[in-house]
Amino acid sequence: MSKNIHICKLSDIPANGIKDFVLEGGEKVLIANFSENYYAYNGNCPHQGTCLAEGFFDGAVLTCNKHLWQWDITTGKPIGLAEAPLESYQLEIEDGEIYVRKANALKMAELFRDISTSTQDLLVKLTRREEYEVGSVLYDLGDLTDDLYILESGRVEFELGRDERTSAAGFILRKGEVFGWAALLEHQPIRIAQAVCVEKSVLLRLNGEEVVKVLATDPASGYLVMRQLATLITRHFTSSSEQ
Ligand code: FES
Repeated sequence: MSKNIHICKLSDIPANGIKDFVLEGGEKVLIANFSENYYAYNGNCPHQGTCLAEGFFDGAVLTCNKHLWQWDITTGKPIGLAEAPLESYQLEIEDGEIYVRKANALKMAELFRDISTSTQDLLVKLTRREEYEVGSVLYDLGDLTDDLYILESGRVEFELGRDERTSAAGFILRKGEVFGWAALLEHQPIRIAQAVCVEKSVLLRLNGEEVVKVLATDPASGYLVMRQLATLITRHFTSSSEQ
């Protein structure tokens, strides 16, 4: 588990306001105050990386100033046009000082959103965190659909076909994005695309069969995951056919 990172004093944050801080390594953290509570999020917009501290904050709703995506500051959940949640950090206050801890990418994944905390924790235990260099092939056409992947950082591109008949099939770059979801499906034993890291990437891997076994112990969460999986697949094929 990552350790707490010191950010600032409570008094550094304006009442019902926001302020951002740059961590060692360049990552930006946005701290927001709403009433008695404080919240911590990644300081860059999940859409195209604009600095969120330059956006508008009315004390409850944060609005990015580039394309006006909005979020509820108490949950980080998208409102209206926004298509992705804010990347949240766990925030702790000790002796008037604010510390943050990065959230596990699985807890940010749309696929596992709103499921029970106990099932989320069991799934987190299944994850293997792996780092990949640029050019690493995560899987190729015809490989077995054993693992599900969650992006923690970096960028992964997908290609269909072979050799000169290869065509790009999109990419993912948002923390918490899930791919390789065929590992959760029946009758889908082999990969139909190639996945390649086009940046140095960190990924969480989970064995699909083990995920299904955990979900079977919590049918309400399992139902939610399958519904969210259907939404992801539909969105994927709708956007592919529009390209
Ligand atoms: Fe923030 Fe587009 S960059 S909404």
